[in-house]
Amino acid sequence: MHPVIVAHGGVGSGIEYKEDVVSAVKAGYEALLAGKSALEAVIITVKALEDNVKFNAGYGSYYNLAGEIEMDASVMTSDGRCGAVACVHGVKNPVLLARAVMDTPHVLMAGRGAVEYAKKIGLEFADLRSEKADKKLAEVKKKIREGYYPQWSEKMKNIDLSEYLGDTVGAVAMDMQGKFAAANSTGGISLKLPGRVGDSAIIGAGIYAGSEGAVVTTGIGEEIIKKVLAKAVYDKLAQLGAMKACRWGVDQYDEGIPVGIIAVDKKGYGVAANKQMAWHVLP
Ligand code: GLY
Repeated sequence: MHPVIVAHGGVGSGIEYKEDVVSAVKAGYEALLAGKSALEAVIITVKALEDNVKFNAGYGSYYNLAGEIEMDASVMTSDGRCGAVACVHGVKNPVLLARAVMDTPHVLMAGRGAVEYAKKIGLEFADLRSEKADKKLAEVKKKIREGYYPQWSEKMKNIDLSEYLGDTVGAVAMDMQGKFAAANSTGGISLKLPGRVGDSAIIGAGIYAGSEGAVVTTGIGEEIIKKVLAKAVYDKLAQLGAMKACRWGVDQYDEGIPVGIIAVDKKGYGVAANKQMAWHVLP
């Protein structure tokens, strides 16, 4: 089978992100052509995006409102294996930690225990702070001081959510054996309380893979979790095909809620977003 890989740089990411996404996709595609698995390929692609400060994942992650980096990531394959991490600090590549969780009896590890596990298995740690994230936190705090940011009890109504998006990254692939895999990684939305977990760590919400294909989502995690979006789109793959299934998923949201979805299935790939989104597919 001819392999395919798609990746995105987050809903809201503009044309200036495109070349970086293209080079990350090329790295994953070369791995597929060399006979590596879909899982290895999506990890290579997402790791490249995590290592690029432009994206809100790994190095370059936005801070929570306390000025800390707390990252989420997950991986899943068509045989139903999955691993995810939430609220992890300092781990250079959370996608590698999510992959490692797949080899434990667990599906999701969070916070201190997940970080301890990363140390135990020898994953790399790094100072992930960036000028970009310093600037974003200052902007968010200024808006809060100006009263632009309403009470949490108002559930973030009346604000332009797109300003708080990070450029969550994700990839989906099919390998030469026809197996599917998905991976994603994020620093989360910039407007978040410490301890908040988004869709990227939640199997079925931000990510899903099975015998029909693989799906990842990007957008406001709270909204994506409520609709269990990745699984909902996955369930439409057989009936609609990847492109229409992604469009169907985006159409479940009002325009004011930014959302993007990428997918692969047995016949091709799908991409849809209700805002600009840098993405790329190979071949
Ligand atoms: N979609 C990323 C997040 O909400 O955390």
